[in-house]
Amino acid sequence: MADQTRPYAIHSDSECDRLERQAALAGLEHHLRHVPVPEAAYILDAGCGSGAMTRCFGSRYADASVIGVDIRDDYVSYAQGRANEDGLKNVEFRQGSVFNLPFANASFDVVWSKYVMQWIDEPKRAVAEFRRVTKPGGVVVCCNFDGFAVTHYPEDEALQRQILTVFPRLVDVYIGRKTAPIFHTCGLINISVVFEPDSLFTTVGSIDPERRENWVVQLAAARPYIELRHSILFVGGSPEISRLECPVRIKNGPTRTSRSDRRAPPKGVLPLAILRVDKSNFGCR
Ligand SMILES: C[S@@+](CC[C@H](N)C(=O)[O-])C[C@H]1O[C@@H](n2cnc3c(N)ncnc32)[C@H](O)[C@@H]1O
Repeated sequence: MADQTRPYAIHSDSECDRLERQAALAGLEHHLRHVPVPEAAYILDAGCGSGAMTRCFGSRYADASVIGVDIRDDYVSYAQGRANEDGLKNVEFRQGSVFNLPFANASFDVVWSKYVMQWIDEPKRAVAEFRRVTKPGGVVVCCNFDGFAVTHYPEDEALQRQILTVFPRLVDVYIGRKTAPIFHTCGLINISVVFEPDSLFTTVGSIDPERRENWVVQLAAARPYIELRHSILFVGGSPEISRLECPVRIKNGPTRTSRSDRRAPPKGVLPLAILRVDKSNFGCR
């Protein structure tokens, strides 16, 4: 994993199960309308995680050959196991990095990559690889967030400061808006951009149990990074706003609670509050 400069901070032993639940919540079939797939296409899912989208392509396009690549061996094994369970014969998985894809030039009609560019420090290098392995006339489609976790209303100044300290160090929270310029720099042509409202992390009013759990699992996994680097300060929040209870050990640094948080947290356990996160999915091809 030498070239994965930004650690995948939300990794845990149950990350693939979480990615599967997240994919089910997202409704992957909706993505397919953004991806023109020719007959008997060769399709790459770069940074495939649990392989949910790889399988989605495989089951929708029976005449296609679909390959999922991920940097983590354990995710690749998980993804292959799920595809085998589904009896998908046209889907396979390989370990590999988006910086050095294990394929010849011009191998694929379609390269798909979702929620990966935010995790890597050199997205241009990855897109240059996507271009290299795409056939002339093929398409590269990336699906990224813009403003991940950093936009909410009403704004709590202290919380906002904390969020802006932590999240941009974990991921590139503004990778969405950078995607088209990166494509342009890498020499891709006929670039189009589709904005979609996010239905996974955006919450207006109270959050449902599945989406809440999706936040909790990721933040719990990322806790060592957050503690180590920043002494997370996601404390408080308005009572009417969804609250994520997640044990966070504060190693050092000051802690704060918002004025509106009147419940005393149990000792050593701080409530994490995610305010109404608002962001867009940013599709680009
Ligand atoms: C948020 S997950 C998204 C997985 C999948 N695309 C999805 O939408 O469910 C990001 C994935 O990118 C993978 N990844 C991170 N850096 C990578 C790299 N350099 N090369 C290949 N995969 C990478 C991680 O292992 C993880 O599976």
